[in-house]
Amino acid sequence: MSYKDGPAYYYRFSRLYEMHFSLPPFSTWVEKNHESLLACLPEKLSGDVLDIGGGIGRLSRALARRYPGQQVLSIDTSAAMTERARTDAPLENLRFETQSFWDVDGQFDLVVCAGCWEFFQLQPSAMRLVQLLKPGGTAVVNTLGPAVFGRVRESVFRQVFRTDVWLHRPQSLTEELEVRGCRVRWNPVNLLEGSYTLVARRSD
Ligand SMILES: C[S@@+](CC[C@H](N)C(=O)[O-])C[C@H]1O[C@@H](n2cnc3c(N)ncnc32)[C@H](O)[C@@H]1O
Repeated sequence: MSYKDGPAYYYRFSRLYEMHFSLPPFSTWVEKNHESLLACLPEKLSGDVLDIGGGIGRLSRALARRYPGQQVLSIDTSAAMTERARTDAPLENLRFETQSFWDVDGQFDLVVCAGCWEFFQLQPSAMRLVQLLKPGGTAVVNTLGPAVFGRVRESVFRQVFRTDVWLHRPQSLTEELEVRGCRVRWNPVNLLEGSYTLVARRSD
């Protein structure tokens, strides 16, 4: 199995993941992270949307409703998560595919990612993100930095699930994207969790 396959072992249990959404404090954190990301989305959009690591599809659905005139592609390396996502009522402008961030084709006007950047190494992921953005396109990423909860999660994933996790400081991700021609801003969401939302706009 290569790193491109994602943390397939853990996310084979889509029902377990779903429990996050009803288990405080995780449920509150996930909600806050999604809210923060949704608050940073561009008001208008003239092209397609990619949701990376869309999981069971909650955020992907919010994106499809927010941009009814655009197509939203939600990708996830875990077939179990994709299948679970498809069981909710279909939306015309939303499709779910079992695919990896590293392999997906195309360029997008908006690339969104929540709770998944932790599985990506810094420099390759910054390079890949810029490839996926059309000139003038926007990326909105919500992820964990190296704070207390981030470190706990890192250690669980490394030791129990044998999956690599990388916690990037927002400043480091900003630098990597800026040298690749993006304008970047970010804001913290939860200090204990170390979560932040970063917005990058690729130059025209
Ligand atoms: C914490 S879940 C987040 C799900 C959703 N975005 C949310 O906020 O509820 C992370 C998801 O990222 C997926 N993932 C991990 N590596 C991936 C990759 N390389 N490409 C696509 N998806 C990936 C996992 O399978 C998992 O479903």
